[in-house]
Amino acid sequence: MRTISVGLLGLGNVGSGVVKLLADNADAIRHRLGGASVAIRRIAVREADKPRLVDVQSSLITTDVNAVLGDPEIEIVCELIGGEEPARTHVLEAIARGKHVVTANKALLAAHGEEIFAAAEQRGVDVYYEASVGGGVPIIRALREGLASDRIDELVAIVNGTSNFLLTTMTEEGRPLEEILKEAQEKGYAEADPSLDVDGWDAAHKLCVLIPLCFGTRIRVAQVLVEGLRGIEPIDFRYAERFGYVIKPLVIGKDHGDSVEARVHPTLIPRRFMLASVNGVYNAVYVSSYALGSSMYYGRGAGMMPTAVAVVSDVIEVSRNVLASSAGGTSLRASRRRGEMKERRIRDPGELSSRYYLRFGVVDKPGVLAQLAGLLGEHEISISEVVQEGQRQEGKPVTVVVTTHRALERNVQAALGIINDLPTVLEKTRLLRIFD
Ligand SMILES: NC(=O)c1ccc[n+]([C@@H]2O[C@H](COP(=O)([O-])OP(=O)(O)OC[C@H]3O[C@@H](n4cnc5c(N)ncnc54)[C@H](OP(=O)(O)O)[C@@H]3O)[C@@H](O)[C@H]2O)c1
Repeated sequence: MRTISVGLLGLGNVGSGVVKLLADNADAIRHRLGGASVAIRRIAVREADKPRLVDVQSSLITTDVNAVLGDPEIEIVCELIGGEEPARTHVLEAIARGKHVVTANKALLAAHGEEIFAAAEQRGVDVYYEASVGGGVPIIRALREGLASDRIDELVAIVNGTSNFLLTTMTEEGRPLEEILKEAQEKGYAEADPSLDVDGWDAAHKLCVLIPLCFGTRIRVAQVLVEGLRGIEPIDFRYAERFGYVIKPLVIGKDHGDSVEARVHPTLIPRRFMLASVNGVYNAVYVSSYALGSSMYYGRGAGMMPTAVAVVSDVIEVSRNVLASSAGGTSLRASRRRGEMKERRIRDPGELSSRYYLRFGVVDKPGVLAQLAGLLGEHEISISEVVQEGQRQEGKPVTVVVTTHRALERNVQAALGIINDLPTVLEKTRLLRIFD
């Protein structure tokens, strides 16, 4: 029977999971491919002698990427290195040599997706990327195939497990972000350099992978409103709860007809909203579409085996295409074929219309609240609720929290620009957006 040869670039967390899953489920995979099998032929890494998470024949391992890219037997290359370079160069080289590509790399696709998909179309090869968003949650397939008949209006998602773990722990334990982050790093739940996760960039990369599938337009990371978790304090969780909300690290994409909105930030969401109960490292994507209405996709968004499920499922799908001689005709079909992509206007962050949570640290004296309310009013921001709590302490600011009715982001930012410079305002105002 036919064997499909696969080459791996990378044998870290995900690469090791791929090796294990292909071995553990070899019989089932052969069955699903009508008797054909999938075999790993070569694995390129940086350091040949490094201890590995799985047993691999040493003869498969090489530090020469060309031993994978230049092997004519290899039909599918799995790029599991991460980052933009050298991953981009290797993926383009694989495509140029007529190999199909499976990648888990959102940073690569967010920055160079257009170039890669165009090259793949021209060469007539497949590029699959299910693992790039949501780990094992098959959201790419759901958007590309399951919802191919529908029109997506809005996507709201938790796609960074580390951020969700940090905010969930803050909610449950009331401890500061820095303390929980340090513990998570010590236990290996968070990267030594947490900025991709904590500052929102990993989620922004994933949103840039999802937006073309949802709304048929290209988007660059620089066009996304991105805010991370830093600056959120335990007190914000207490106020959020009092107002009936939880704080979640959301990505939001919305079709406004004339334009598309794209943003990533910690957000207050009502306790009754489905995403409010997505806790810890779990991911979930909520989609609102014209005919289906609401649907949600939930599961483990990272980790060796969950991510391997997505990569190996892509390998099986590409293998099916190869066996059916239809490879190169199906990847990204529906909304990613170049002819179907439209250049659409991405909304400027200032155009956002939202409700806001504003936490002020002010001097405790009469008239301050009226001054804040007056300045907000002058900028067409009307207040929904105001709460001032806690004991007066000599020399310390008092906390005043305001939630607003719907207002324009540019007006809110302009008002805060003035408010933060007032002598009566002792701390930079904390702004969080409310999703209703
Ligand atoms: N980890 C997850 O849970 C997860 C989830 C979803 C998506 N992803 C994505 O999956 C990809 C891989 O992530 P990972 O966690 O498996 O990363 P990782 O553990 O850091 O592994 C990276 C692998 O790439 C190899 N490598 C690095 N530079 C190379 C080069 N220039 N040439 C050849 N090999 C090179 C490394 O070799 P050495 O081992 O010799 O150093 C290592 O085996 C990334 O795009 C990531 O965003 C990861």
